[in-house]
Amino acid sequence: MGNRDTELTEKILNLKKSRNAVILAHNYQLGEVQDIADFVGDSLELSQKAAKTDADVIVFCGVHFMAETASILCPDKVVLLPDIHAGCPMADMVTAEGLRQRKRELPGAIVVCYVNSSAEVKAESDVCCTSASAVKVIESLDAKDILFVPDQYLGHYISTKTDKKMILWPGFCPTHLRIHPKHLSHLRQEYPQSKVVVHPECRPEVVDLADEVLSTGGMCRFARETKAEELIVGTEIGIIHRLRKENPGKKFIPASEQAICPMMKLITLEKILWSLEEMTPEVRVPEEVRLRAKVAVDKMLEIV
Ligand code: 13P
Ligand code: SF4
Repeated sequence: MGNRDTELTEKILNLKKSRNAVILAHNYQLGEVQDIADFVGDSLELSQKAAKTDADVIVFCGVHFMAETASILCPDKVVLLPDIHAGCPMADMVTAEGLRQRKRELPGAIVVCYVNSSAEVKAESDVCCTSASAVKVIESLDAKDILFVPDQYLGHYISTKTDKKMILWPGFCPTHLRIHPKHLSHLRQEYPQSKVVVHPECRPEVVDLADEVLSTGGMCRFARETKAEELIVGTEIGIIHRLRKENPGKKFIPASEQAICPMMKLITLEKILWSLEEMTPEVRVPEEVRLRAKVAVDKMLEIV
């Protein structure tokens, strides 16, 4: 760590203490941000942590929908998102109005929203899911038709794992679409002893070539437990920092160096410090939306 980072870290930790704050970071965050966090995890783990924390302030190092989920679960806490422009392009591919329209066309369908969606979209949904909980959530539903928003690729993957009839919204993650089957086939040739893990947001042709299809938290667990010493990792490359840190004896190869989520990288140590100093930008979901969105999030948390 450079002098500047050490200085910033010290200031952040002092301020964190005096504000009674907790720092939660997603697995895709910059290495230096992961290193100062109290907890690093996937979307499901982060929402579970947020729901349980007794801190007064949550500094959410991730993207907007994740901070909103924390606000949905913890209305009494101040939730800070150190860069308010850190959004998720996939979450923006479905709006509450667009969803209401589609629901009118599909009366009786149960709406399942991926956690990568706005609070307003969650408020229009029956149940929420994350990549770690998706199959379990869908399996638990007793419905003729399930409308799944917004990720068509996660939706497609789940539909191969259940008999349920799923109608898919045409959203996608631009970062995961940067991973192509040719990347995996080249790397498999180069590392014949390796295992390939990919995120279910990847296109089906990529998923078909994987040994394991896992959430980012699932990948961290798999990396610890597998006997394989080389892992080809098909997801956003921020996770490589954590994988290497936790498994110094193993080799982690990104499926594509281009799989970068620019939004996740907007959060920096400087912005975290500034955010704690100024107690802004705050993410707070309006109460009327929050109460409806909470029903969908709570339902997921009950199922998992
Ligand atoms: P995870 O819940 O697996 O961490 O995924 C979040 C995400 O945004 C993937 O792109
Ligand atoms: Fe959204 Fe994709 Fe970034 Fe995840 S990696 S936050 S789905 S754009």
